[in-house]
Amino acid sequence: MSEKKIALITGVTGQDGSYLSEFLLAKGYEVHGVIRRSSVDYRERIAHLEGIKNFHLHYADMTDSMSLVKLLGIVKPNEIYNLAAQSHVQVSFDSPEYTADVDAVGVLRILEAVRTNHLESHCRIYQASTSELYGKVEQVPQNEETPFHPYSPYAIAKLYGYWIIKEYREAYNMFCCSGILFNHESERRGETFVTRKITLAAARIAQGKQEKLYLGNLSSLRDWGYAKDYVECMWLILQQDKPDDFVIATGVQHSVKEFATLAFKAAGITLRFEGEGINEKGICAEGPAQLLGKTLVEVSEDFYRPTDVVNLWGDPSKARRILGWNPQKTTFEQLVSLMVKHDMEKVAADHVTSVMRTNLAEYLEKGIVK
Ligand code: GDD
Repeated sequence: MSEKKIALITGVTGQDGSYLSEFLLAKGYEVHGVIRRSSVDYRERIAHLEGIKNFHLHYADMTDSMSLVKLLGIVKPNEIYNLAAQSHVQVSFDSPEYTADVDAVGVLRILEAVRTNHLESHCRIYQASTSELYGKVEQVPQNEETPFHPYSPYAIAKLYGYWIIKEYREAYNMFCCSGILFNHESERRGETFVTRKITLAAARIAQGKQEKLYLGNLSSLRDWGYAKDYVECMWLILQQDKPDDFVIATGVQHSVKEFATLAFKAAGITLRFEGEGINEKGICAEGPAQLLGKTLVEVSEDFYRPTDVVNLWGDPSKARRILGWNPQKTTFEQLVSLMVKHDMEKVAADHVTSVMRTNLAEYLEKGIVK
């Protein structure tokens, strides 16, 4: 075996996969990423890494055991980061079977591919578990001992992933760990997750390229951290002496409404909220003259979920104590500000201003554009 550590990342094209690749490359790893064949380009987040020494991409699929077995036999990684998933909670209600195939059975396929190649003692495995496991929460804040109550097809698939990782750890003595990550956002966050949807809309509205933002449940509470800080934890979890599971969160909770208020403020618009529930509206109280008094945020039933998780709040004490990780490295205020700054620049550089483009996030979520 060479001195250089070899990492395999599934979900390398995603927000976390791209940050983790950069992190591991900087640590001197040879990084192998798993990509899926697609007719559209979805490699934007890793485009800057392609062609770099020590960064390699391979075609495989979480729903295709053979491709995973072959790939692991070729790469023989020391560390696997299983980040691949159908990761949108609302979409899991529309595609529950696909979500289960990728997010539940996909984890099993990785584990069995490791065993088939006799890599059990050579390879450590990180599983991207999620705070959605707590779902209809039974305790706040949530820590590693809090009972799970998954509350969507996505969360239920992820619960299988969590338990099968634990099972293989105990049954086969494999170094398998879960990071139970609370929501983590960034400039690279997908455009249909609520934070990025808000920061992009705030930037477009401030620049006259969008009229209104439609959201779902404004009262939903989340513990939002910065994805770039969280990938460090994924790595730290695999560097411990023994395999274990960790909650990764900031320990601070905010509502969707608070996120929106702060994001619009960072874009130069002060919102005043009026009404309640489905009738709640965000009106421009201060900002550019042409926006004053206008309703900029409205609630739409389209973004309500059949069952919604509304009170996630993580307790990162164990990660702080054992991994030595600082959960407050990037504060909520800094996170919102860096996302809005990025999107203000992106929108200013974006010459496509049609309604179709500016509302793409909404169209995607409503399923009008797949
Ligand atoms: N997406 C979205 N769009 N969510 C909205 C909207 C909207 O217009 N309006 C309100 N929300 C509420 C949702 O109902 C939810 O309660 C909350 O905002 C956060 O939604 P998302 O940003 O879509 O994230 P999520 O919490 O459902 O899931 C994310 O975090 C999990 C970790 O806790 C995803 O990244 C999951 O993959 C991840 O496991």
